[in-house]
Amino acid sequence: NLKINIAIDGPAGAGKSTIARLVAKELSYIYVDTGSMYRAVTWYMLKYGIKPESSDEVLRHARNMVLELMPGADGQKVLVNGQDVSPLIRSREVNGMVSQYAQNEGLREHLVALQREMAARKGVVMDGRDIGTTVLPDAELKIFMTATVKERALRRFKEMGDAQGLTLEQLEKDISERDRLDEGREISPLRCAEDAIVLDTTNMDIPQVVETIVSFCRTHT
Ligand code: C5P
Repeated sequence: NLKINIAIDGPAGAGKSTIARLVAKELSYIYVDTGSMYRAVTWYMLKYGIKPESSDEVLRHARNMVLELMPGADGQKVLVNGQDVSPLIRSREVNGMVSQYAQNEGLREHLVALQREMAARKGVVMDGRDIGTTVLPDAELKIFMTATVKERALRRFKEMGDAQGLTLEQLEKDISERDRLDEGREISPLRCAEDAIVLDTTNMDIPQVVETIVSFCRTHT
């Protein structure tokens, strides 16, 4: 039973993390949330006041950071220099800044190298923006997950309750802005790989999406 690599890309809030985690569980694969790596770096830079424009500084600090991903009770834990920052990387501050740090070419190269290492032995479900196009162009299965901005904002809204005091309209605006930056950046923009399967999940529930991807995987192995 040979293992493959599965790349899942798509815009913010399409449900990639939830789906990728469940697909990994179903197949006994390792789940890698690459967004959490960009988020952890962003959290660190904000904490130490290093601006995204200071690209050399950002890269120098990122290279010196010890970034670890490990399985947690609900999803994946992210550690920065041994500190579990998982609850801290989903804040509105990080949401608002992450796409700016993610434009840093050197930082991307550094994180992409780490991501490729994690996938070297196969059996990985990796989600992000550039997995099928850049990180794992040879992944045996590539999924591009989409949903309308409205639906994505609504899912986020339900997931958060009003914990962060945001309205649905604000969320929709935040998500559109992040899409715009991720699609428009020069280095590895959010783009559907030519050989990816496009999955519009607007009218699908979670088990349906998981089942669809798992069945694609079975036809590959
Ligand atoms: O997936 P998530 O929403 O957690 O990603 C947060 C941000 O990290 C994205 O909006 C994007 O700017 C950046 N990112 C990226 N490349 C990836 C994963 C995430 O640029 N592979």
